[in-house]
Parts: sequence; C-alpha cells; structure tokens
Amino acid sequence: MLVSRHHIILSSLLLTTTLISGEILNRGWWNHTVFYQIYPRSFMDTDNDGVGDLKGITNNLEHFVTSGVGAIWLSPINRSPMVDFGYDISDFKDIDKTFGNLADFERLLARAKILGLKVILDLVPNHTSDEHYWFQQSINRIGKYKDYYIWKDGENGNFFSPPNNWLSVFGGSAWTYNSIRKQWYLHQFHEKQPDLNYAHPDVQEEMREIILFWLRKGVDGFRVDAVPHLFETNYTLDEPESGIEGATKTDYNFLNHILTTDQPQTYNLVQSWRDILDEYAHRYNTSEKVMMTEAYTTLNNTIKYYNYGSHIPFNFNFITTATHTSDAAAFKNIIENWMKAIPEGKVANWVMGNHDRSRIASRYPGRADQMTMLAMILPGVAVTYYGEEIGMVDNMDISWEKTKDPQGCKAGKGKYQSRSRDPARTPFQWNYLLNAGFSNAKETWLPIHENYLYINLNVEKYEPIEKSHYKVYCALTALRNTSEALKFGSLTTDVVNKTVLYVLRKTKEEAVTLLINFSDQDKQEVDLTRVLAGFKNGVVKVASVNSQLAQNQTFELKNITVPAKVSIVLHTFFSNASAEYVASLQTILLSLSFLIIMLYK
Ligand code: GLC
Repeated sequence: MLVSRHHIILSSLLLTTTLISGEILNRGWWNHTVFYQIYPRSFMDTDNDGVGDLKGITNNLEHFVTSGVGAIWLSPINRSPMVDFGYDISDFKDIDKTFGNLADFERLLARAKILGLKVILDLVPNHTSDEHYWFQQSINRIGKYKDYYIWKDGENGNFFSPPNNWLSVFGGSAWTYNSIRKQWYLHQFHEKQPDLNYAHPDVQEEMREIILFWLRKGVDGFRVDAVPHLFETNYTLDEPESGIEGATKTDYNFLNHILTTDQPQTYNLVQSWRDILDEYAHRYNTSEKVMMTEAYTTLNNTIKYYNYGSHIPFNFNFITTATHTSDAAAFKNIIENWMKAIPEGKVANWVMGNHDRSRIASRYPGRADQMTMLAMILPGVAVTYYGEEIGMVDNMDISWEKTKDPQGCKAGKGKYQSRSRDPARTPFQWNYLLNAGFSNAKETWLPIHENYLYINLNVEKYEPIEKSHYKVYCALTALRNTSEALKFGSLTTDVVNKTVLYVLRKTKEEAVTLLINFSDQDKQEVDLTRVLAGFKNGVVKVASVNSQLAQNQTFELKNITVPAKVSIVLHTFFSNASAEYVASLQTILLSLSFLIIMLYK
C-alpha cells in the first residue's frame, strides 16, 4: 500500500516534469539564431532629440528580417537617470521617456511578432539607480526596504573610512557614505548604482515580479547583466592586490576580486530566474523563453552557467582572449577550448562585440569580415552588435568635453580615451545624409563617425558595388539559415600551411569550409581533398571585402588559393559520381576477393 502510494506520488511528479517540459512550445528556436544587440540610444531617433527611441526601432524592424537576424536584444529601456545610460534603473516596470512609453514598447513587440522576430530585454538585477524608490526608502530605514541594499558601518566603526578596500568597476572605492543613514553602501559600479542585497528574500521576490511583468508583455527572454557581481562575502575583509603592472590604486584591476565576484550563491539565483522563464512558458504555452548571461570570468565559471539555467552564457573569448596579433593556432585553441568545455547537448555561442568593448572592425583592423564569418560558421548562436553588419568602427574623435560614459569620465582627462566606451556607442550609420540618417537633431548625443559618408547601410546595400561588409553579412546569414551543415554538421578546425585556419562544418551530403589566411603578406595554397574526399568543387559563397574573389567562383578542392589577409567560405556537396565510383570500386574489390577465395579453395 505504502509502496503504491509512493508510486503514485512518484508518477505524478514525473508527470508534472513531463508536462513542464512538454508544453513549452518551439523549444530550441534560438539554437542557430543570430541575436542582434541594439543600443537604443544610438539606433534611430524619430523625435529629433538626438537620442534613439523605440519608434525608431519599430520603424526599422525590417532591417533585421532582410539581414537574416532572428532575435533582437535591447540594452535597457527602463526609466533611468541615465548616469550609466540605462544600466542605472529607477523604475524596472516602466520605459524611460527618452525612448517612449509602454504603449510604444507594446507596438514594437506586436510588429516584431508579425515579422517573426524575437525580442530580448536587458535585465539589470545587480543594482538599481540611487533614485529608485527602494533606495530612497532604504536610506531612511523604512520597513522592508531597510536591508534591500548592502549597508555597512565604516572600518572599525569609523564613519570616515569605508568598510574595506573594495573598488568599483568604474574606478575608486566601491563604498559611498550616506549622511542620512550614516552608513556606507556598496556599489560595484557607479555610486549612483547601489548594489541590491540578494540575501534578502524580498529582493529576490521583487526581481521575480519584474521578470514576470515583462514576460506578460510578451518578451522572449532576457540578457542578464553583470551576473558575477550579484553576491559578495566577508564585508570586513580587504581584497588582495592583483599585482597587475600599471594598475593604479583606484583602478578596478588593482585588486583580485575574490570576495566580490563569482560567489557560489550566484548560480542558484540564476537558476531560479531560468525556472521563472520555464514555468511561464509552460503555463501559458508560449515559445521557449531564453536567458543569456553576461559574465566576464574564467572559462570554467562561464561554462558553469550552462548547468545553472543560462541558455547562452556569453562566450567573450573573441573579445577577451583573441587579439589582432593572435595567429591561426591561437584561434583554433580558443574555438576548441570552448567546444570541449561546454556540456553535452548545450549550444555554443560566439559574441563578437558589445556596448562595453571596442568594435570588432577596430579590434581587428582589416579583418572584420573574418570575425563575422567565424561567428556565422561556427556552430550555435551568433551575437552581433549593432553596426557590425556594416563594419562600423570606433569613433576615437570624441573629445574629453563631449565624453559621456561614466567609466571614461571617472578615468579623467588624461586616461579617458583608454577607458571610455563612447567610441563604440555612436549612432548607427544609415546613409550619407544629415547625421547619417540617424536623426534630424542639430546635435546627436554622441558624435557620428565622420566615415559615415562611405560606411553606411544605404551605400553598402544599394550601391552597385560588388562587395561590402553588409553584403558579406547577408550572404553569411542566408547560408546559415539554409544550410544543414551549418545547423547540424560536425565541426573540425585545423591549421594548414601554418597561417591558414580552416573551420569545416560537414554532414554526409554538404560541407561549408571557412578558410582564413592570417598572413598579411603571403597567399596560401590549400588542399582540402583529404578532408573532403568525394566532394565536388568548392563554390565561393562569401569572400572578405579585401579579396578579388567573385561570388560563386569555383575551386578544385586540391588547389584553393587564399590570398594574404583574406577569408573565404566555400560550399560544396558530396558528389554522387564519386559515390558511384567508390561503390563500383568496392564491388570490383568484393568480386575479386570472392574469386581469390574460390580459386584458393
Ligand atoms: C554591464 C553592462 C555595462 C554596465 C554595467 C553596470 O557590464 O554591460 O554597460 O555599465 O553592467 O550595469
């Protein structure tokens, strides 16, 4: 009796699990998708205040459809004093008026849905703005808000010195004194971004509500911000010095952040957010809701997020590990290390740029196409930062006076250029008209790069030029969205002739090969007959803009010339003729051995 009761409980538990997994629709829709990050301030301005807005995005959603993008991720659009340009949120459930209002967002979602585009929002759980209602209450120790943030007394009870030596990512102490509460509060970023206290169950509940609020609006998932910073430990202890050369006492990298990042509780919290997404999708029979996580940390720590709910733990290795001096072997290692590390059945991802880092075309001068090709040909999710599809570069001509980014401003006049993130955040270059077609304002919030006259979508898309970064981008997404080899094929990477990296994606029937020549001087001859035995000649599907190669030009697999600094994508199919040849050879061999056996007998 007891056993059977257990049995019933067990089977109903199993049933619930099956139901939960069974009713989330369209599971894995994101597995091969190109995600495109929009920095809303810089995408398209429709009200002529020099800052982009939601209508500007809605009016241009077709751009993503024609570019082969499947999902857009918007950097924060919530109400914000804009100290960190939206990453300092004062109301998580509203839209900042710079961008529009909730109705504008609903229109954006509705239009995206019609076009078949998924919409991902930025979730910023680590901190709020100091102007948030919670913080204002917390300062005054009011009710449940009293411990919503990390408040501590000064070192040894002294109010004039912070509790410890912790530093903020933007530089300077991570503690600021509040004279009303007479305590110090922790901010791992700007002093106007106080850290939330996740040891407090009500804080966890608030975040849960925020996630549900946006899910009810119909968003398709979240990119979760600054995940490693969610918890800290030992508030009275100092962090050790890192010993990094050149780091001054106020630079974030002066310390080794063993107490303020990557704490073990982080993982369960992330998993709890994933559970909300799954429960919601299950309950309302929606498409799978996706979670992407931003964590600049070790490979091991990043990979761990795969096992704690993140569908897409951002793989920043092409930003943080590879540089423009990395050679073919270094790239091969980076790819293989990631592929080896990800757990069985999980999906790889390749992030090429974002609003915090220098643009890809600036990081890899003359090699932007090569990087886009890698993202598109490697298995899994590709993440594109706005403007990368047209090869936008950093605008390094932003004066100290015009610098907006708090990280740049805090670095001071002497150092701002190496710290400011403004150069990678300038307006999208739509065409060669006023303000690159971004806005009709007198002045845009950040200056437009002067190269907009020739680097812009209009020229790259419509002018009768054979090659452009945008054409490369579209050819790649088109191939990616149709090729079985790119969706399901195996992956092999290798280095040939020392300077050529090849990335091969292959099914029985089809093969896509990316060849990148890392040499700046010498062309290379590559022979692919060994790895592609039985395949027909290769057809050039995409070639970098710096090459003379024509699209659809064919190459014998034995003799593929890859000019210096050029990258190409070859497409080829298994040849039935060679299959027949192999088959007949096999038949001959079989008959021969049969004959020999007979004779021997
Ligand atoms: C993340 C964001 C960055 C922001 C920081 C604080 O790293 O990408 O732009 O400044 O978090 O929210």
